[in-house]
Amino acid sequence: EAFDVMVVGSCMTDLVSQALRLPKAGETIHGHKFFIGFGGKGANQCIQAARLGAKTAMVCKVGKDFFGDNYIQNFKDNAVHIDFVRQTSDAATGAASIIVNSAGENAIVIVAGANMLLGSAELQEALPAISHAKVLVCQLEISPQTSLQALRMAQENKVKTIFNPAPAIPDLDTGFYTASDVFCCNETEAELLTGSSVGNVEEAHRAGQELLKRGCGSLIITLGPLGCVVLEAPQSISKHVPTPAVTAVDTTGAGDSFIGALAFYMAHYPTMPLEEMARRANQVAGVSVQADGTQTSYPFRKELPAELF
Ligand code: RIB
Ligand code: NA
Repeated sequence: EAFDVMVVGSCMTDLVSQALRLPKAGETIHGHKFFIGFGGKGANQCIQAARLGAKTAMVCKVGKDFFGDNYIQNFKDNAVHIDFVRQTSDAATGAASIIVNSAGENAIVIVAGANMLLGSAELQEALPAISHAKVLVCQLEISPQTSLQALRMAQENKVKTIFNPAPAIPDLDTGFYTASDVFCCNETEAELLTGSSVGNVEEAHRAGQELLKRGCGSLIITLGPLGCVVLEAPQSISKHVPTPAVTAVDTTGAGDSFIGALAFYMAHYPTMPLEEMARRANQVAGVSVQADGTQTSYPFRKELPAELF
């Protein structure tokens, strides 16, 4: 059985507090709501692709603990294949402490835990499936070597790759660019990777040109309410793809919703222009920012307009 989308990446338990503003160093403030949710960039992207109708499998590691057991149940509930989900007693399930302010913005600390113990042994076990998948997606909440190895495995087998360099690291191995069919980052990550400010569409066009030269097939920089810019090698024309305005309640994981949707479109409509995939993925992510939480806010296919399919 071939999977549409495979994700080699992270699972985190999200511990979310909503407050009017983010606290300063040394400060205690009152919040008004707390909840626990399923998060982690890898799993978020996988769940969004699955909710749009992709046949998905997750390659990841959680702890042999309460959060890990719950996470596996969450994959089952979302019809994600769990044959490559491993549990370890050597580390705890990854956790993310998240604070969301009244503008829907957030600050996050992640403790990756078990995610960091996913390595080549697990990739080897998943290789038969990876080599037959349509699209493979990786991020940076697991060990970077594991991500890079997974992307290379996929590419050697002509599987399309999407790489999301999140959270960004300043000296990213250039191998990540050449192993990416689509390299997709947000404005903050683009700033870190280029060293120049990415605060508007003009600056995003420029950062995009610079990042595309590093060797990826295509490049997307997401810009929140401004949509995204899309560039494809060898032409380095940067196209702005705007997105309809919405009122944001919680933007946490909106980038993951975008990438999960992009992976779905790449698997299901391989000949669709990347710009059109990005336009549709913008709309899916736009729905996610209008509700609390990450995965809890990700739309299912049946809740979306038919024109997106
Ligand atoms: O991208 C959003 C995700 O980042 C959250 O779900 C949190 O777990 C962190 O990994
Ligand atoms: Na949300």
